[in-house]
Order: sequence, then structure tokens, then C-alpha cells
Amino acid sequence: MLVRNFLKAAMGVAVLSLGSALAQTPAGGRGGQPAAPAGPWMNKALSPDERADLVIKEMTIDEKIQLVHGGSTAAPAGGASRSNGGAGFVPGIQRLNIPDVNMADSAVGITRGAAMGRYSTLLPSTLGAASSWNTEGAYLYGTVIGRELRAQGYNMSIGGGVNVTREERNGRNFEYAGEDPILAGMMTGYLMKGVQSQQIMGDLKHYAVNDQETGRNIGNATASKRVLRETDLLAFEIALRESNAAGFMCSYNKINGDWACENDYLLNQVLKKTFGFKGWVMSDWGGTHTTTKAALAGLDQEQPGSGFFGDNLKKAIAAGEVPAARLDDMVHRILRSMFAVGVIDNPPVRDVPDVFQGLEDAQKIAEESIVLVKNANGQLPLNAAAVKSIAVIGSHADVGVLSGGGSAQVNPSGGNAVKPAPGAAPAPAPAGGMGMGRVAVYSPLAPLKAIRAKAPNAKVTYNEGTDPAAAAAVAKGAEVAIVFVNQPMSEGRDSATLNLPENQDALVAAVAAANPHTIIVTENGGPLAMPWIANVPAVMVAWFPGVGGAPAIANLLFGDVNPSAKLPVSFAKTHEDLPMPKIPGIDLAPVVPPGGGRGALPNFEIPYGPEGLKVGYKWFDAENKEPLFAFGHGLSYTTYSYSGMTASASGRNVKVSFQVKNDGKRPGVEIAQIYAALPASAGEPPKRLVGWQRVALNPGESKTVTLTIDPLYLSVFDEAKDAWSLLPGDYKLMAGASSRTLPLSAPVRITQ
Ligand code: BGC
Repeated sequence: MLVRNFLKAAMGVAVLSLGSALAQTPAGGRGGQPAAPAGPWMNKALSPDERADLVIKEMTIDEKIQLVHGGSTAAPAGGASRSNGGAGFVPGIQRLNIPDVNMADSAVGITRGAAMGRYSTLLPSTLGAASSWNTEGAYLYGTVIGRELRAQGYNMSIGGGVNVTREERNGRNFEYAGEDPILAGMMTGYLMKGVQSQQIMGDLKHYAVNDQETGRNIGNATASKRVLRETDLLAFEIALRESNAAGFMCSYNKINGDWACENDYLLNQVLKKTFGFKGWVMSDWGGTHTTTKAALAGLDQEQPGSGFFGDNLKKAIAAGEVPAARLDDMVHRILRSMFAVGVIDNPPVRDVPDVFQGLEDAQKIAEESIVLVKNANGQLPLNAAAVKSIAVIGSHADVGVLSGGGSAQVNPSGGNAVKPAPGAAPAPAPAGGMGMGRVAVYSPLAPLKAIRAKAPNAKVTYNEGTDPAAAAAVAKGAEVAIVFVNQPMSEGRDSATLNLPENQDALVAAVAAANPHTIIVTENGGPLAMPWIANVPAVMVAWFPGVGGAPAIANLLFGDVNPSAKLPVSFAKTHEDLPMPKIPGIDLAPVVPPGGGRGALPNFEIPYGPEGLKVGYKWFDAENKEPLFAFGHGLSYTTYSYSGMTASASGRNVKVSFQVKNDGKRPGVEIAQIYAALPASAGEPPKRLVGWQRVALNPGESKTVTLTIDPLYLSVFDEAKDAWSLLPGDYKLMAGASSRTLPLSAPVRITQ
């Protein structure tokens, strides 16, 4: 009754029509909040847009303003904070039954959880998961995150990074999905679809061209509209198409002179008008710079504070600088997303996260993510019954596996497996590695233990690898040496080169010289240079492999699982071969702190124009540079052959077909890739990925792959028409095992 009287006062006679609905309000709150009245917007037969508009009709301007910025997480006097302790919190409107939005960073699992005594599964890095080229695996990845967010009482994930790898040394590559916009867009889209399948809202970030960490708060990325649409923005376009993500997070940097969060071209024109995005745009944390300009350019929510979209937005509306309808649009976008994803109808219910299911899912994803890049003389798999002695060396393999740092850092249960000695100061961050004041975090479950379990009859010794000569001596006495090496990477800092830090290249060289059966396992954020590659028979790229990493690595080393993953990024031989050998801005300061240094340092240019469309493998192809390992490369313990390709066009649709055969003795999964060379008139790099299929094959088995290529993937962006265009002309379709191993090709003419 109290509520009813309050509403009556607030809304006058209009409340009478709501009267009977309010009187029937069921008891009980939502998401730990007090009971609230239902309204006509709780009618699930209405569309999310209709429901949002019904709420907006009842809202005061202050309530609307409350939804468009981050709220205080401090506890009110005498009460407890409603914030769930995540990175973002927006207090809901309790009298209207609109729940709080509790957001958690959750790129590779839910962060901050362990600090609050909650368990979260640390998944393999998303770059690792992208190596599976498995959209179903990406969906599973998202469901793990969504499931655990629900159990922890969050209703929004702010993972969903899909910045294409323009900069191989970018500290955040591990949070993204590689250099190809189609692969990255599909994988991240399915991941976010998985999150939202759990009725948890998701976002895509960091929109856009936030492709390096150095000076991310002050750099101005420049590129033409065609370049933007065909590279970075295409990844976002596809990820949105596949997921209908509730949110988009605009990035810190400028693009062509305007901050991403007040960039009319990016937000209003491309995202909202062209892509048809119905959700809301939130700023990266501290990435809002103005009130009126940002509001008019399409920013819908300031995070995490209220300096621009709190009182100042109210004043700008009162002054007529920002139309009141624009505030309604911001609020509509937030509310309709909450209805569409289900966080109002089916709010999260706190529960105990299923640790065992999480571990099983993480291990399965890891097994599909780890790439065997070199395997000379059948060095791998190891024969568990026959191997007599193994020297395991380096990278704390006796206690755990490395994870990525920054806001994606998942605190493993049990804490960092590499504990500082009691009373000692925390270990310093490794050179060129972890930023944001954090140390490298190792997730428990030790590869050493998993290896010992596989080969119980072998003598397995461990050496920490800090002294190359001592490690070499241990390796010399063993039949096989397995050297674990690491490349710590983190938000807030890039690596100046692609080389392993902390003398690990010398470690590998010394061990390889002592033992010809040296196997390297890398725990890496992104591409690595391997100056020692000619001297080692086998290399496995394990990325940051997550909580299931140790058993997954052991299963692959001993052949219980046949490797199938393929690189979603090119590995350059050296950073000198990259489009920009020196990272722009790296000279400005040793580290430009995220969220800081804005006024203190000059703006600087990140000129993507010269590199243009030639991102990743397209650069190596166009410039005739030999990569260390090509995009799409990855070996198996069996071999596959390709034959019988045909291609035909009917209108805009191109259909390709070919056979893949397993010629070896083990069952396996081959990721068959299809590339296209466009007509010369298109002015494109030599080829682009246009499709792939994962083909499971038993020994001797052959299957026909048939794919219809999405016309978008064959199109170019026509700036004059401001639209995609499928050019008539002669195309060449190619199929094979990697971007540089394409035994099949077939011409096709598009005439429409
Ligand atoms: C990062 C975002 C993150 C946010 C909240 C920012 O510094 O760039 O990716 O979601 O912080 O933690």
C-alpha cells in the first residue's frame, strides 16, 4: 500500500490504471533487492522495446540520469552496498522493478571473484580459444562465463574483446581473437552468444582500433573508412551479428581525431545506423571526455563515474544542448537490452559455481586451443610406455601455468601458485611483461605433475631454468627435455619485442645444444619470435592455457589427444618484420599508465594508413615476407591430403567443395581453410580467409567439405557508396591447411 501511495503522489491519476497490477504484486525481491511492484512492462507478451517504453513513461528525469552513468559502490549510511564488487555497478530503479546492473570483467573467466571468496574458472585465453576455430567451443566458453556470473549474482559480462591483432606486441592480444576479422568476429560472436544464453548481458569491446596499449589514453589511430570497415570494424560487425550483444564498450583512444567515446562516425553512423545496434554504448573506464559532444555522438552510459553524464547531463538537457529525447534513447537502449536478454524476467540467483564442470570445460577448450607448430622427426607424441627419463625445465612448471594480467586477470582458486617467500616483498613484474602494478599470476595444476602421471615409469626431474648452464646439464642426462617458456602479457603495457623475456631464449638455446630431443612448450600472450627454432625438433604453443592447461598439455604431449588447433595470428620472425617495427608512442614514457597521463603527455599518432588493409597475414603476403609461422598453421599427429576442388557462382553466392582425407594412423580433426583472391580491380591484399570447416576424420577416412561463402566475406567497402560491394570479376578460391599451404584452387566468375 505504501508503494502504491508513493506512486500515486509521483504520477497522479495515471497510477489508477496500474492499481490492480500493483495490488497483486508477489512478495519477494529480485537479486537481493527489496520487493518491488510489477508494472505493465512485466507482460512478457510485449516486445523488449514496448516494455522499455512503458517503464520510461513512469520515470523521472533523475531516475533516467541514474541509469546512464556508473553508480557509487559505497554503502549508504547504515546499509550495505548493493554493488556485487565487480568493475561496474548501475543502481536500478527499485520502485519500478528495474534491477541493478552488476558488471564483472570476464574476458577469460570472472575476475575479482577469488578475492571475495568466490570460485571462477580460469579459461584458456580467448586468443587460445580462437586457435580452435570452433564456434561451438566459443559458445561453450561463453556459457561457462555466463553460468558462473549467474551463480555469483552478476547480470552483465564486460568481456567480449574483439580488437584485431594489428600489433603483435599488444599486451592485450590474449584477450582478443586474432588478426582476421572474420575468424575473430565469429569466435567472439559465438562466445557472447554463449554468455547471453545464460540470460546474462554481454558486451563487445574495445570499440575501436584500440590495438596497442602504449599510450592508449592519448593515441590517435588513423585509417580510412574503407580500412576501418574491412578490418577492425568488420570484426565488431560480425560479432554483433552473431550475438546481439547488449552492450558495446567504446575505447580510450582517438580515431581519426575524435575520442572513441564521442566519435559520431563510429557510434551513431556505423554502429547504431549501419549495424543496427539496439543496445547501449558504455565508455571504457574513464574514457568519457565531454557531456554534450559525447551524448550527441552516441555514448549512452559513462563508466564508472558520473562526471559527465550525471548532473552535467541534466544541466545540458535543461539548457537544450542535449534533447530530452536523446536521454530517453539512452535509457531505452539500456532497458530494452535488460528485457531482451532476460535479466529482469530471470535475474541471477546466487549458487555454488560448479568447479568440476568448469575444469572439464576449460580443459576441453584448452585441448582444442594448443597449437603444435613444429614436430620434426616425429619427436611428438611421447611414448608413455617407452620413455625412460624426462627433464622438465622452466616457467614454474612444477607449480602451475601462467595467466594474463590486467582487468582480465582471474585470480585462481588458492591464489598465485608462485608465492613470494614469507615476509618477502612481492616479486617484481617481469621485464616488459605484466603491467598495472601486478605480478605474473600462475594458476595451480602443475604440468610437472601431469607429465609424471602420464609416464609413471619414467624418471622425471625438474629444473627451474633460471641458470641455462645448470638446466642444460640436467637436460643432458635425460632422454627428453621439455622446456616451458613464458611471455607474460598484460593490459596497460606492450612488449617492445617478440622475444621471450628474462634470458629464456638463452635457456632454450643451451638446453637444445645439450639434448637433441628438446620440446618447447610456450605459455604466451601472443606471437613469439623463436631465434632457436632450427635447433629444436618440437614446439607447442599453449598460450595462457587456463586451469585445465596442465592436463591438456600432458594429453597432447603424450598423444592422448591429437592436436588440431591452428594459429589465429601470424608469428613474425622478428618485430622488424612488422608494419611498425617500433610501437608508436613507446618512446614517450616507459609506461603510459592506463587511465592516467592524459594531460601530462602529448597526443601522438598511430598511423594505420600505410599498413591499411594489410593486417596480419595480408601484410606478410603483400610484402613478400616469410613469417616464422603463418596464420592458420598447425600440425597434427596424423596427416591430411586435399583433393578435388570445385567452385561455382550463382548470383552473389559462391559455393566451394573439396575432399579432405586422413592419410595417417590416428583419428584427428583438420581445420580446412578457404581463402579468396579478389579481382585485381578490387585493390585488395593477395588473399583473405573466407571460410573454414573443422573436419573429424578417422584413419583412411575422406570427407567432402561443401561451403557457401557469405557474400560479405568476398566484398569490398565502397567509400563513395558508403556500402559493401561485391565486385563482378574473376575470383580465385583456394583451400588447404593454412594461409601458406593451399594445394587446391578453383576460379570463379561473379557476374552480377
Ligand atoms: C579496461 C576495460 C575494463 C575496465 C573495467 C578498463 O581499464 O580497458 O577492458 O573492462 O577497465 O575494469
